[in-house]
Amino acid sequence: MMPLNDTLGRPLKDLRISVLDRCNLRCTYCMPEASLHGQGVFLPSHHLLSDGEIEFVVRVFAGLGVHKVRLTGGEPLLRPGFIELVNRLAPVEGLTDLALTTNAVLLPRYAVALKQAGLGRITVSLDSLDDAVFREMAGERGSVQEVLDGIAAAENAGFKQLKINTVVQRNSNDHAVLDLVAHFRNTGHTVRLIEFMDVGNVNHWDRELVVPSAELLKSIHDQWPLRPVARQAASETARRYEFVDGAGEIGFISSITEPFCGDCSRARITADGVFYSCLFAARGTELRDKIRAGLSADDLAAELTGLWSRRADRYSELRNRLPQHQRHVEMYRMGG
Ligand code: GTP
Ligand code: 5AD
Ligand code: SF4
Ligand code: SF4
Repeated sequence: MMPLNDTLGRPLKDLRISVLDRCNLRCTYCMPEASLHGQGVFLPSHHLLSDGEIEFVVRVFAGLGVHKVRLTGGEPLLRPGFIELVNRLAPVEGLTDLALTTNAVLLPRYAVALKQAGLGRITVSLDSLDDAVFREMAGERGSVQEVLDGIAAAENAGFKQLKINTVVQRNSNDHAVLDLVAHFRNTGHTVRLIEFMDVGNVNHWDRELVVPSAELLKSIHDQWPLRPVARQAASETARRYEFVDGAGEIGFISSITEPFCGDCSRARITADGVFYSCLFAARGTELRDKIRAGLSADDLAAELTGLWSRRADRYSELRNRLPQHQRHVEMYRMGG
């Protein structure tokens, strides 16, 4: 099948679906507690795509050449019946890589069932091993021990080579990054250090709080020499390095200092069924109500083909030239 390309020649290859917008943590860079005043912040359950509607969307994307689907949120494991959803998606024809992004707090309860349901990969968010730093960044919820227990549960259930995502913020967890890296050396898991991004409208993003990956690379390299690893796929978000001593890999996701829009092949669907062609898009395309009105698979495929072939987004590359304070969709709605 010919890949479906956008206006910049980028093929549609990945789909990221937010399965709900709630979370059991309140990370300051994503869902700060103070921003959640009042009612109606989160989607009511009848606004969420049902399991059947998500499966329908995934089948249509798979038919357009998407092999890779990531389930994200919010915290996906809070979705009622999430295991059943994984069960329905895992066998979809054409899908070869089904992954989950989670904060791991609920993994002790669900890891075995996720494996049995056919989930392929797990990415865990963990910002620090220092409990005080962790809790400050997670809005005083959860604990390092809960996340480590979740990681252990995933390992015991047979998930190998986890990715550990760490958002680095100046004067929050930047001083504790080496400890985190040391902890995961020789475990087979890969720590990925993420530059704090200006996603959403509520996280008080400030360039001063961004720790450039080059700075972290240098301090890690000074401690444990690193060498670059060739990309596996053009669209990879992370620049990868391996420890020269054989202790494993590490990645840097540098959306601010080294944007990676050039090969971005990611489509996104929110929990309420809105399609977005970029993490920073201000506007999306509503699909849920059309699906509920009986849109056929062929018509959905035609709509998505039109949307992708008109796509021109490259927000991270244009960031410095765009007016400040553009409205963005929150990351917990768009999917992390
Ligand atoms: P793999 O499937 O393992 O390659 O996952 P991934 O690299 O897509 O990573 P993951 O879903 O773990 O994303 C890691 C982080 O990278 C996200 O939480 C975001 O912070 C950031 N990210 C992911 N996709 C994009 C993107 O398209 N644009 C930007 N600017 N950031 C992204
Ligand atoms: N900057 C960078 N990454 C973010 N995430 C959420 N908000 C931000 C932000 N402002 C990502 C993190 C987290 C995942 C769920 O979403 O990678 O692990
Ligand atoms: Fe929850 Fe992840 Fe957002 Fe933290 S970053 S509040 S764990 S969705
Ligand atoms: Fe893709 Fe938009 Fe992220 Fe660039 S900013 S990599 S176009 S999602």
